[in-house]
Amino acid sequence: ELRIRPPTNSQRLLVVANRLPVSATRKGDASWQLEMSVGGLVSALLGITEFETRWIGWAGVNVTDEIGKKSLTKALADKRCVPVFLDEDLVNLYYNGYCNNILWPLFHYLGLPQEDRLATTRSFQSQFDAYKKANQLFADVVSEHYIEGDVIWCHDYHLMFLPKYLKERNNKMKVGWFLHTPFPSSEIQRTLPSRSELLRAVLVADLVGFHTYDYARHFVSACTRILGLEGTPDGVEDQGKLTRVAAFPIGIDPGRFIRAIQLPQIKEHIKELEERFAGRKVMLGVDRLDMIKGIPQKILAFEKFLEENPDWHDKVVLLQIAVPTRTDVPEYQKLTCQVHEIVGRINGRFGSLTTVPIHHLDRSLDFHGLCALYAITDVALITSLRDGMNLVSYEFVACQASKKGVLILSEFAGAAQSLGAGAILVNPWNITEVASSIGYALNMPAEEREKRHHHNFVHVTSHTSQEWAETFVSELNDTIVEAQLRIRQ
Ligand code: G6P
Repeated sequence: ELRIRPPTNSQRLLVVANRLPVSATRKGDASWQLEMSVGGLVSALLGITEFETRWIGWAGVNVTDEIGKKSLTKALADKRCVPVFLDEDLVNLYYNGYCNNILWPLFHYLGLPQEDRLATTRSFQSQFDAYKKANQLFADVVSEHYIEGDVIWCHDYHLMFLPKYLKERNNKMKVGWFLHTPFPSSEIQRTLPSRSELLRAVLVADLVGFHTYDYARHFVSACTRILGLEGTPDGVEDQGKLTRVAAFPIGIDPGRFIRAIQLPQIKEHIKELEERFAGRKVMLGVDRLDMIKGIPQKILAFEKFLEENPDWHDKVVLLQIAVPTRTDVPEYQKLTCQVHEIVGRINGRFGSLTTVPIHHLDRSLDFHGLCALYAITDVALITSLRDGMNLVSYEFVACQASKKGVLILSEFAGAAQSLGAGAILVNPWNITEVASSIGYALNMPAEEREKRHHHNFVHVTSHTSQEWAETFVSELNDTIVEAQLRIRQ
């Protein structure tokens, strides 16, 4: 449920992200089913409860008729959400194409698509045009709902042109932009054909935010190297105009998880799961089925662990929740087949008539089911090849107050910078290292587990998404006041 309660901060916040926190499915001419969307961005944004917020974004559904558009707009209004309607062709070129086949892999160091060069160049241009067109449609909807004094907070790689298009319409708007993925080294950004236009469009924002200091540094150095602008400790300067660039590490709403695992029905569910897996240690992976999450590498590391540790064969189980995502993009379809193939092979190799070492699910769990699973886990295995932050690691820690399980975490996830002292950090590409870390985690003495958990628990409960939003918005307000003072001087 989207929690709606009176805000403590009266400044209105327009949160603009490609995906709304709820996604819609049509059930009749004018009837809609709304479900919580998946992904780290949504789970963090849901933790912002103390602002008078309006969400603007795509509801994940193609609606072409007026009845549908009106009824969906009305259904979403109850959740303080405003839809941006994108037609199927545009979604294909903008979302499947430019966002998820070009920017997403590039920002995660997986490079540009490798197909036939000419075909790629042609489709690249049409995808880039569609990207700009979609950003204009978002700007239309934001402008319609904007009231003077609102703070507009644009999110993620889908909306890099939005700051520019908004300021072109109304230069007085307060506009912040935040990236939820890594921002790669300037050497990677340099390969993108539209590298300069994208950077310039973002720089129109008053404040540009990233999860980690490294991403902010990469962005500033991309502006220096690609655009020839001056990087300062505060951001990027272009002809006397400063765009503030800074790191704002995101968090979750820990209370939501801590409260959930105290509910009687969840305690009951926890008990059932514990009985179900009695005598076996539980390892857990929860990821969108995305190539950046390193799922094949993780499973291969688990296989290596089983290979080298026959004593553990019937004493450990890996539960991998792989939430389907971006299923129209061919790379994601290939990944699904690859993961199924590896899981099948390993279960065939190490399973018995009654047990298998890997339970792999191609679906999401509801919130309560997920909390129960986090709570019974002995070792969480989060081995993203690259990840902006990775809030699954935070959610796991929030649910581990009594179990105090171990977190194995990729050093290439933003969260490694905040949970690094409590987690076992691994290079996900090094399967031997991950396999031996699994053994270390499973055998870790209670005292070390408790110490590590305590470190992470303190961090997760003291760096919440509400504080993250407050810091970003107050910095944005300050930046604008400072800029006005500079102009007056
Ligand atoms: C990541 C991105 C989000 C995105 C989410 C889910 O967390 O940073 O912007 O919403 O993945 O992906 P999807 O394509 O389904 O919105």
